[in-house]
Amino acid sequence: MFDIRAAVPEDLPRAAALSAAVGWNQVQADWAFFQEHGQVRVLEDGAGDALAASAALLPHGPDLAWISMVLVRPDQRRRGLARALLRWAMDARSGLTLALDATPAGREVYGPIGFVPVSGFARWLLPEARTQGAVAVRPMQATDWPDVLAQDLAAFGAPRAALLQSFARRLPQAALVAPGGFVLARDGLRTPQIGPLVAQDTPTALALLAAAQAALAGPIVLDVPDEAMAFCAELAASGGVKQRPFTRMAIGAMPAAQTRNNFVLAGPEFG
Ligand SMILES: CC(C)(COP(=O)(O)OP(=O)(O)OC[C@H]1O[C@@H](n2cnc3c(N)ncnc32)[C@H](O)[C@@H]1OP(=O)(O)O)[C@@H](O)C(=O)NCCC(=O)NCCS
Repeated sequence: MFDIRAAVPEDLPRAAALSAAVGWNQVQADWAFFQEHGQVRVLEDGAGDALAASAALLPHGPDLAWISMVLVRPDQRRRGLARALLRWAMDARSGLTLALDATPAGREVYGPIGFVPVSGFARWLLPEARTQGAVAVRPMQATDWPDVLAQDLAAFGAPRAALLQSFARRLPQAALVAPGGFVLARDGLRTPQIGPLVAQDTPTALALLAAAQAALAGPIVLDVPDEAMAFCAELAASGGVKQRPFTRMAIGAMPAAQTRNNFVLAGPEFG
């Protein structure tokens, strides 16, 4: 019914224009990552600056695939495009767990298709760096990767080495480790985004966050699970503002994971 096709590299500027037009934070590097490591589908009608619609599908290991960038240009909405893009993703990864992080508008599309809410989180804006605690934080070294990837696997439940290493290349000054934790960040269209941040406890998480934000010098955004209540209370106490809610949804069982150690998520487009 719709002329939805695989993206080619030439589509990426207009894909980035679409995410920018709806006020999202992704840059072309994010779209390029989806194109290189996953699949991107687009509807291109040549109108305006941006694509008519998009979706991305990113595998995280053999059992889980992440759907994201489900975007429909305002003049193309309520024609069934988002539903058609979801059907493509479901066909492309049949048998695997499919997960996504839904905006309130997206939830209206995904619920009727069969996606079930798993957990909630919120996008926070943190205006300025907090003072650091007593936890020793240092720059991530190449030799830290096995330990960092093992911590991430335990906290997220599926492997995603290429993603984490791409974040470290994008903002190396904010790639940090502490005993029992690590943090990464990436550039964004509007604001740098911190995440993922994995830590054994709240003081370690707060120290890593403070050090990463100090390294970036300025406001940052981050996605924090609702269950991290003590961490959220500290964000609020230091001037953090909750901007909007998301619902993690899935078809199939989410991988077993120590989610309480995942204080900051990679982001709704990555999991
Ligand atoms: C959310 C979004 C992707 C929906 O795209 P769309 O192509 O308009 O959605 P569809 O036409 O496929 O809608 C399928 C069904 O979802 C529901 N739905 C879609 N948008 C809705 C809305 N704004 N309010 C209530 N229900 C909605 C309806 O049940 C709809 O079926 P119907 O039109 O037959 O009643 C689009 O509004 C958008 O790009 N929003 C901004 C970005 C965003 O939030 N993306 C989701 C990321 S998780």
